[in-house]
Amino acid sequence: MLERPTRQALPKKLFVKTYGCQMNVYDSERMSEMLAAVGYEAVHAAEDADLVVLNTCHIREKAAEKVYSEVGRLRALKSRRPDMVIAVAGCVAQAEGSEVLRRAPAVDIVVGPQAYQRLPEMLARVERARGGSGIVDVEFRPEAKFDELPAHEGPAGPSAFLTIQEGCDKFCTFCVVPYTRGAEYSRPAAAVIAEAGELARRGAREIVLLGQNVNAWCGEGPDGRDWTLARLIRALAEIEGVERLRYTTSHPRDMSDDLIEVHGAVPALMPFLHLPVQSGSDRVLDRMNRKHRASDYLRIVERLRTARPDIALASDFIVGFPGESERDFEGTMTLVREIGYAQAYSFKYSARPGTPAAADPLQVPEAVKSERLARLQDLLNSQQQAFNRNCVGKRLPILFERNGKRHGQLVGRSPYMQAVHAEAGAARIGDLAEVEILAAGPNSLSGGSPAI
Ligand code: SAH
Ligand code: SF4
Ligand code: F3S
Repeated sequence: MLERPTRQALPKKLFVKTYGCQMNVYDSERMSEMLAAVGYEAVHAAEDADLVVLNTCHIREKAAEKVYSEVGRLRALKSRRPDMVIAVAGCVAQAEGSEVLRRAPAVDIVVGPQAYQRLPEMLARVERARGGSGIVDVEFRPEAKFDELPAHEGPAGPSAFLTIQEGCDKFCTFCVVPYTRGAEYSRPAAAVIAEAGELARRGAREIVLLGQNVNAWCGEGPDGRDWTLARLIRALAEIEGVERLRYTTSHPRDMSDDLIEVHGAVPALMPFLHLPVQSGSDRVLDRMNRKHRASDYLRIVERLRTARPDIALASDFIVGFPGESERDFEGTMTLVREIGYAQAYSFKYSARPGTPAAADPLQVPEAVKSERLARLQDLLNSQQQAFNRNCVGKRLPILFERNGKRHGQLVGRSPYMQAVHAEAGAARIGDLAEVEILAAGPNSLSGGSPAI
């Protein structure tokens, strides 16, 4: 006799919410794919889900605290649906471990960024021990993570993330990443090349190489020699279907000669680089343990511009780092004026537990931080607008990634990472086509019909 389908036999519903950087976006995609293989179907709201995964970020206090308010909201749902499973993944999970269970007892699973390949086992344990205490797995084993994850399946978007490096050994005095992601680890070149080939076969035309310090990537090449990121980029550019390459995020100290050179040599490598400087004051850079001076950074940018004259730059900045004086801050403003950024992220310094700068007695008052941030953001915004305006009248190749809000509109990216809204005409998602830029807004461009 045939068994009647039970509730367990129906596909379970999964909702993943992602906070933080692109590395978390990549991890969320891999988690969803892995869970799809064991019967979980993605849904768009926690209300409909049997399993909710919060893939969290610990970088600033605000980011980390968001998780607890979200779990509070989920707890209300769970009180009506006791079967619902809540998993906290990512960097808060890694940094706080079982503390997450103590602060938020509604959580069933705490899983670090290098342990999530074991989620299916952990879910089975939760099912067996219904009502038991939560499970914590925050082991650091990056090689196991990449080896044990199942291969990608299904179509890829036109632009795909590919994590090639994890962790950080730099220990900037403000930063939690060396503690939440562990030591620097580079995936072997052969694994990266295989994954890039797979992504291209599934439809990706742009590959964005990811790492906390992606330009520190180094590994054994398929030829048995030691490869640098520059060598890897040259190999990836040869893969059929790979038309655009990017890498993010880089540290100025690892901007080696061959990497600068590759910007002038490989056309698929897009002329846009996110190269965070954090501050323009040598005194602050030193206190941050960045291990370079402002002049070193300016020199790298000059050399990049010689290699690839149209390269556009982006950066991250921290204002109000402990001990930052008005003069130090002016150093940052001067550096920004000298470089001229196409895009940037800027943050008020946030003291993170366990990092050296958090214990510094010279903390800057909140009001001073806010005032400096406003001045810096005014300058950065005006630079971004000037950069965008400068594109008007040009024809730029745009890779279309999604539909626009308006019917008949597509949204894609320029080589310089700007979002471009265009009339679709004959173009489809996944096309790479030239568009005449007609207007520029603060955060995006608009263009005419693509030339197909
Ligand atoms: N690996 C990258 C950055 C990773 S974190 C690098 O070295 O540049 C992303 C950005 O968050 C950093 O560039 C920094 O600007 C910001 N950030 C990190 N820790 C912070 C803190 N404690 N307070 C404020 N901003 C911080
Ligand atoms: Fe954090 Fe510095 Fe490492 Fe970047 S290089 S992840 S800012 S410690
Ligand atoms: Fe946040 Fe972790 Fe990325 S702390 S910025 S999610 S590496």
